[in-house]
Parts: sequence; C-alpha cells; structure tokens
Amino acid sequence: MSAFSSIWLDLRYPVDLKARSKELEDQYIDHLLAKVPIGSTVHIVDLGAGNGATLKAMAHRIPRDQLWTLIDNDASLLDDLIDKKRSLPRHGYALHLSPLQVDLSTCRLTTLFSGHDGITTSAFLDLVCLAWLGKLAQAIAELKLPFLASLTYNGFAECSPQDPLDAEIIDAVNRHQQQEKGLGLALGPAAAHETQKAFSSRGYSVETAESDWISEAGDQLFQKELLSGWAVAAKEYGVDAAEVNAWLARRQKLIDEGRSKIRVGHTDLLALPPES
Ligand SMILES: C[S@@+](CC[C@H](N)C(=O)[O-])C[C@H]1O[C@@H](n2cnc3c(N)ncnc32)[C@H](O)[C@@H]1O
Repeated sequence: MSAFSSIWLDLRYPVDLKARSKELEDQYIDHLLAKVPIGSTVHIVDLGAGNGATLKAMAHRIPRDQLWTLIDNDASLLDDLIDKKRSLPRHGYALHLSPLQVDLSTCRLTTLFSGHDGITTSAFLDLVCLAWLGKLAQAIAELKLPFLASLTYNGFAECSPQDPLDAEIIDAVNRHQQQEKGLGLALGPAAAHETQKAFSSRGYSVETAESDWISEAGDQLFQKELLSGWAVAAKEYGVDAAEVNAWLARRQKLIDEGRSKIRVGHTDLLALPPES
C-alpha cells in the first residue's frame, strides 16, 4: 500500500479525528468567523488535502457558506475526495469544493493563497524541507492569513507491550522520515518545532497542542498497516531484514490477540497573524 493511498488515509481517519486538537480548530474557526462577515463565503485553502481529512473534520463546524480549495498533486486522491462529498456531515450552509492538482514544490504560493481567508493542512508539514517551510510561512504572513497545521509527526512512537527491537525500528523510521519526499529533504520529526519558529519570527502568535494517535487494541487493520510501513522503512534504513520480519510477526500476533496498543506523537499548531 502506498504511503498516501486512499485506503490508508481512510484507515487512519478515525484515529486522526480523535487526535486532532478541537481547541485549536475552534480558535481557528472563531478567527475566520470574526474576519468573514455573516452572509459571505469563507474561502479556505487546504494543502496536501489527500482525500479530504481536514475538510471532513471541520467543514460542518463552520457556520458560514464555504469554498474549499483542496490542493494535492495526486489526482486520484482528489477524485476520491469529490466522490465522498455526499457523505460529509450536513450543516445547513453551502459547501463548494474546488480540487486543484498542483505540485506544491513548484507553484507560487502567494498567488495560490491570494483572495482566501485561511490556510489549513494536516499530516503534511513533516514531508517538507526547511526552505519550503520558510516560503510557506512568508507567503501566509504576506497575506496576514491564519494557519492551522494538524497532525504533524513529531518523532515519538511507543508500542505496548514493548518488544526489544521497537527502539531500533522506531529510530530507523525517524531517519526514513527525513529523506526526500518531493519537497526537499523532509523535516520529519523537526517539522512542528521549525513551523513554530517560522511563524513566531514573522510576528504570528503560535499555539501548539499534542495530537498523538492513541491506537487501541480494536484498531487492528490500522495497526497492521502502520507497522508494515515501519517494517519497510526499517529494512531500507539498515535493520536486518530477518530481524524485522520476526519483529513484525511478533507484533502482528499481539494485534491478532487484541493486546496491542500504539501511540504515535503528533503536534497541532495554530498560527494567527498579528492584529493590524
Ligand atoms: C500524509 S498525506 C495527508 C493527507 C491529508 N491531509 C490527511 O490528513 O489525510 C500527505 C498528502 O500530501 C500530498 N503531497 C505530497 N507531496 C505533495 C506535493 N509536492 N504537492 C502537493 N501535494 C503533495 C500527498 O499526495 C498526500 O495526499
């Protein structure tokens, strides 16, 4: 399964949803509502939208007509997102979707964001390099827009019950997270901290909240997919393949027995522009 397949994004969605900071989302929504008059449409850009996790989590909680520009370089995810529009929770306001297949590594961000009221993203910033993050913060700050970045991976991962090979596997996963993923050498676990610096240094007020995945024993398919991905990454980063296979078999047995819990560290971040 590819790292960004619809099947994987759907499997992680319920775990994501529990993890997201409702407080930061509410503050972001309040900021939008204060800026966009009643009767007007809120224009939001979602970066690396995938098949619409942030839209699904938030649209029904924004009491205004909305236009979401959903940006991804994977057309099949955007198609899936449009197919899912019918299943979005209803909230009595108009919801317009504008999917845009764009490679964010090459486009002009200021042009893309111009005319919008706010920017969101989820599970995306850990894929980008420091230089791109700086361009993103600069474009958002030039337009004085609010920014909500949910579910940025922060390098912490813990399996229960523990296994002697866990630490070596997680260390390899974290090194894998810092390889090139299409937007320069990825920040991986450093992304949330660097985002905080990038926006604070531009006068933004920045707040963060823990948004760890807390996966319980019932999330069997999710856990199996997650750990299979870790196994691939660990082999690529030098952990002995036979040892990785044996580790995966032990962990899969725990999952099948309903005894496996996994916590994966994420950070949500809200950056609000200085009042002018
Ligand atoms: C981990 S997924 C997150 C998707 C969604 N935001 C979510 O929370 O489920 C990362 C997304 O970033 C997109 N992406 C990666 N590189 C990109 C690029 N250079 N330009 C646009 N989108 C990109 C992927 O296609 C994928 O949908």
